[in-house]
Amino acid sequence: MIDVSRKKKFEKPVYSNTEGMRFATPSVVAEYRAKRLRCKTLADISCGIGGQTIFFARECDFVYAVEIDPKKIEYARKNCKRYGLDNVEFICGNALSQEVIAKVPAVDIIFSDPSRPSKEDIRKVTSLEPAIPNVISAYSDKTPNFAFEAPPQMPPERISFDCEREYLSLNGQLNRLTLYFGNLKQCERSAVSLPASSRISTTDTSCTVRETTFMGSYAYEPEPSVIKAQLIPQLTKSLEYHTNQVGLFTIDKKRMLLTSDSFFRHPMVKNHYAILLISVFNVHNINSFLKNHDAGTVILRAGIDPADYWSVRKNLESGLNGKKTIHLFVNNDLAIVCEVL
Ligand SMILES: C[S@@+](CC[C@H](N)C(=O)[O-])C[C@H]1O[C@@H](n2cnc3c(N)ncnc32)[C@H](O)[C@@H]1O
Repeated sequence: MIDVSRKKKFEKPVYSNTEGMRFATPSVVAEYRAKRLRCKTLADISCGIGGQTIFFARECDFVYAVEIDPKKIEYARKNCKRYGLDNVEFICGNALSQEVIAKVPAVDIIFSDPSRPSKEDIRKVTSLEPAIPNVISAYSDKTPNFAFEAPPQMPPERISFDCEREYLSLNGQLNRLTLYFGNLKQCERSAVSLPASSRISTTDTSCTVRETTFMGSYAYEPEPSVIKAQLIPQLTKSLEYHTNQVGLFTIDKKRMLLTSDSFFRHPMVKNHYAILLISVFNVHNINSFLKNHDAGTVILRAGIDPADYWSVRKNLESGLNGKKTIHLFVNNDLAIVCEVL
């Protein structure tokens, strides 16, 4: 079956079943990761329909692609052919079996994007298949350099391995977590934003954050990969390259904004805001203010009970017929009304 319905994930339509397509790596992510892992020989030992393999084959001299599911490896084979690649050897079988291990020679890098349970209350590395420690011990005589994909919801402290934890966001959403071992490890934690292709990391340790309760004229919402990688100090330092007055304003447990009186753009910032109003959170007063400011839509960025969200939003938007989309953050009883710049 050729999946054309989700062709946006890839440059060209690819062969897949629904499950293979669901877990396939989007091409922009696969391309970034393949460039980071460029080497002579690489083995992708849980390749699925080949979403990532295609890009490894573009960057590396030769790629070994292993997959336990015979249907998926056939899709991977056809997909590589469709992308004009003939430098991949396909091996169908369990990557942890002696038979498959014997077919994979010494390589520069072993990569695995393992299966994970479709639902899990708390994401754990121990539920990945094939399991990371088993892959490392099975392939340790082939290379010291491993890279694994892991669920991005997992915070760094839940990953007990000696590796780099690279969180990646795509179009402002948290998308991937890649763990780099051996010579591939460059630091403890890093954050990447795509398609901007910007990166920050713990390599820079001379960073501090100034917490503030005062909101400046502008606010900066960090990329989710920066928050997840706990790199707010590094982002603050990078922003202070543009201005020396950046503070961290905590909205609630889930939300934080960096703030300054100067405006500048940064690729690790998801949204750049102009602050329009700071006032006590009173729906009627905010609605009156918005009527005079060309507002049409209000996005509520507050820890409001989901049961009340739409009624509060309806009241905030009552009678609005302007063009602007307004973001409204609520910190305790304080409303911060912003416009995306
Ligand atoms: C998340 S998918 C990989 C998606 C792939 N990276 C892509 O971009 O298309 C994980 C794959 O691992 C395969 N898998 C699980 N256990 C395996 C094992 N022991 N050996 C080889 N493949 C395995 C699954 O069948 C599944 O296709």
